[in-house]
Amino acid sequence: MAPTKKAEKPAEIKAIYNPPEHIIKNATVREYDKLYRRSIEDREGFWAEQAELLDWYQKWDQVLDDSQAPFYRWFTGAKTNIIQNAIDRHLKTARRNKLAIIWEGEPGDTRTFSYHALNREVSKLANVLLNMGVKRGEIVTIYMPQIPELAFAMLACAKIGAAHSVVYGGFSVEALAGRITDAQSRVLITADGGYRRGRATKLKEIANEAMQRAATIEVCITVKRTGEEVYMENDRDFWYHDLMSMPIAGHKCETVPMDSEEMLFILYTSGTTGQPKGLVHTHGGYAVYTATTHRMVFDIKEEDRWWCAADPGWITGHSYIVYAPLINGATVIMYEGAPNHPYPNRWWQMVEKYGINILYTSPTAIRGLMRFGRAWPDRHDLSSLRLLGTVGETINPEAWRWYHEVIGRGNCPIMDTWWQTETGGFMITPLPITALKPGSVTFPFFGIEIGVVDEQGQEVATGADGNLVIKAPWPGMARTIHGDPDRFLETYWKDYKKQGWYKAGDAARIDEDGYVWIIGRTDDVIKVAGYRLGSAEVESALASHEAVTEAAAIGLPHEIKGHAIHAFVILRAGLSGSSQLESELKEHVGREMGPIAKPESIEFVDMLPKTRSGKIMRRVLKARALGEDEGDLTTLEE
Ligand code: WTA
Repeated sequence: MAPTKKAEKPAEIKAIYNPPEHIIKNATVREYDKLYRRSIEDREGFWAEQAELLDWYQKWDQVLDDSQAPFYRWFTGAKTNIIQNAIDRHLKTARRNKLAIIWEGEPGDTRTFSYHALNREVSKLANVLLNMGVKRGEIVTIYMPQIPELAFAMLACAKIGAAHSVVYGGFSVEALAGRITDAQSRVLITADGGYRRGRATKLKEIANEAMQRAATIEVCITVKRTGEEVYMENDRDFWYHDLMSMPIAGHKCETVPMDSEEMLFILYTSGTTGQPKGLVHTHGGYAVYTATTHRMVFDIKEEDRWWCAADPGWITGHSYIVYAPLINGATVIMYEGAPNHPYPNRWWQMVEKYGINILYTSPTAIRGLMRFGRAWPDRHDLSSLRLLGTVGETINPEAWRWYHEVIGRGNCPIMDTWWQTETGGFMITPLPITALKPGSVTFPFFGIEIGVVDEQGQEVATGADGNLVIKAPWPGMARTIHGDPDRFLETYWKDYKKQGWYKAGDAARIDEDGYVWIIGRTDDVIKVAGYRLGSAEVESALASHEAVTEAAAIGLPHEIKGHAIHAFVILRAGLSGSSQLESELKEHVGREMGPIAKPESIEFVDMLPKTRSGKIMRRVLKARALGEDEGDLTTLEE
């Protein structure tokens, strides 16, 4: 069943879905209002209590240091390492022999790792990295398919105090080269390829090209996944399995005690300008925040099998495939490939085969699977599922109901979690005990104070759209933009400087019952199939083609992907547009940035609407494409 053309407006949905009795009875958190009030009145007390649940080499002197706001610091004076909580502490308990990771490749091969085995793999790789001269604080770039080694690589960096920068395996040459250069990475960890829809992707080939453009890489470690022939350069390229079988890999490696505020990773994400920003997250606060949100929102039980079907290359995978579930000692399911390969029942087969209890995915994946009809999930026993989750964009009511009825058999509450790369973890989200409205992200998490305000910072009327702001710091927040603190201030903290609020870049609405609804981005960020892309990045990829003088890219609604990219291109004088050139340009963007950034359509134009200062008015292009009112045109050049 495809979504109907005349979609209901999410924020007008009135139906309330109450959670089933057994969920309420067994929930970790049984009451919201009182604990929420407490968490706001005594924010530091609340977070200190959560932090007490983790191990620390040395406790903090101060929960929150706001002396250099908005460069907030959490748990200052404390010594920890996220690995101490994600691996080391489990080795001292019965969890040692519990499965940490159950992985399945797209071709159907499987591998499993207990916490003991995970520790062994991570320790060996950590030793290898130490032997390659990797130092505390240096940034290692990771560019991999979704295989267990991707998690090992992240964890091994953390263990020795190096920071990782994971570049999504769907990105391509220019995107990878730009991120390597910005991070000044000396070491790259990659793979020959991975499987996607039955085909082997060519990661090493892309990595080789990127290393030519980005000169900083001295060492490249390659995991053999597909076995396809790849070019390896002497003295630079090493096979992962060769290094791991050498005596230097050892089996034991000490976890390095870090200051709470030392960098754990950077993760690049798209913003308004062409250059993606590397958001910085740190060991202490991030561990506390992701573990707490995961435990409370998804009600994690000791015996649970947790499946976050995102890619580790994005924040969702960092926080909720790798770090939070491992800190909580859960069993994590990882799957390499496409949801519909070889058949559209692949995911439902996984749920049945492994007895998965919680599934967390995106609206675009749900819509994509819904298209194939309910006969596919109906063939499988999905009764192990207890809770469902969604993230990435607003879920339309049709997809919500399908997820709820067909996948959850009307029995599994859906946790629609709003958050961002910048926030580290869930910010506005239901709990299992929350009465749900399809399409609403419901209420702020504990310790999170939000507002929906106008440009001046006045709360807008109930039911009206405004800018979503966060009014007080939280432990999981990004600390800065790597190498560019001014941009951090400019992007998030300038507009509400007087109030000291964080501006999320989303429009939102709060209804008469206090439910929060996310309307969408207010900047030039486009969410394509839940992936975050910047108009400016797509435009510069287009402009790097010799036929193009100038380009503009906008996002327009798309049935499955939520939004798709549409581009407008001015060609070099003397050239004229053709369908052949259109496909060539699409391919070019795919090659430079990655397949997800390929425009859906390209229109050749003579002129682009611009402000007098020369900025492209994408909102005008968008309004025209949608046949809507173009709004205020007084700043238009002509
Ligand atoms: C959007 C993803 C509606 C939003 C974790 C946000 C959502 C951006 C939701 C961040 C949701 C995320 N409902 N919109 N449940 N979750 N978004 O950094 O526009 O890739 O600002 O982080 O995704 O995207 P990012």
